[in-house]
Amino acid sequence: MANLSSVMFDEKEWETPHSFNPGHFLKDGQFWKREAFMPFSIGKRACLGEQLARAELFLFFTALLQKFTFQAPPDTVLDFKFTMGITLAPRPYKICAVPRCTMLRFLWDSISLQMLFVFLFVFLLVFDYMKRRKPKDFPPRPFSFPFVGNLQFMFARDPVATVQKLIKKHGDIFSTQVGSMSFVIVNGLHLIKEVLVTQGENFLDRPQFPVNTELFNKFGELSMETWT
Ligand code: HEM
Repeated sequence: MANLSSVMFDEKEWETPHSFNPGHFLKDGQFWKREAFMPFSIGKRACLGEQLARAELFLFFTALLQKFTFQAPPDTVLDFKFTMGITLAPRPYKICAVPRCTMLRFLWDSISLQMLFVFLFVFLLVFDYMKRRKPKDFPPRPFSFPFVGNLQFMFARDPVATVQKLIKKHGDIFSTQVGSMSFVIVNGLHLIKEVLVTQGENFLDRPQFPVNTELFNKFGELSMETWT
């Protein structure tokens, strides 16, 4: 019976036979096949399952090493002491398998779905705020909600009374917001005459109020613009 261990631990064959040393199999950075490495024995009676065993070991360990870094638990020193059996087996030990992750992967994994929604919401809020910013001399505007603007006035029970309140608070000229669109509302005979008649030419190309175009034009009615 050939004692393969006598070759595997032979100090004449290996530089450091009792240590884990991948350098044993490297020459000038290239893989070096060593005759003395014979865990499957040699000759005609060598292991019949060698190719299968090598393929399995390769797949098993590369799959594990791609996903985890193996390291000893804190305050533990690993050694090469073994238990005797048909083969030499390591003694029981504990090992930590730490998942490998790149910085990007780490960030992605640590961002939860809720955080993503919060980020998205804050981003939309800031975007909406920037979009609705008005020049300094723009007529005053009552409090407007993000995204929808002053929709609260549109659905007021008594729109006329609501507008009267706004006139009292802001004066005859104020602005409102519907979605991201701004409107300047002009009230009172004096100002309306000023805008529509005295300076009428300047305001001829004023845009239509969206409700007119959306509702009246759709139903085949004449729009406000046609009337003015
Ligand atoms: C890491 C895994 C393995 C190692 C280290 C190993 C090692 C060995 C060794 C040292 C021998 C003795 C050769 C001799 O008598 O000189 C042997 C024989 C044998 N092994 Fe394996 N083996 C492994 C896996 C396998 C697998 C997976 C199979 C089958 C699927 C297998 C099938 C055989 C057979 C059939 C023999 C007897 C060959 C004969 O006497 O002609 N081995 N193996």
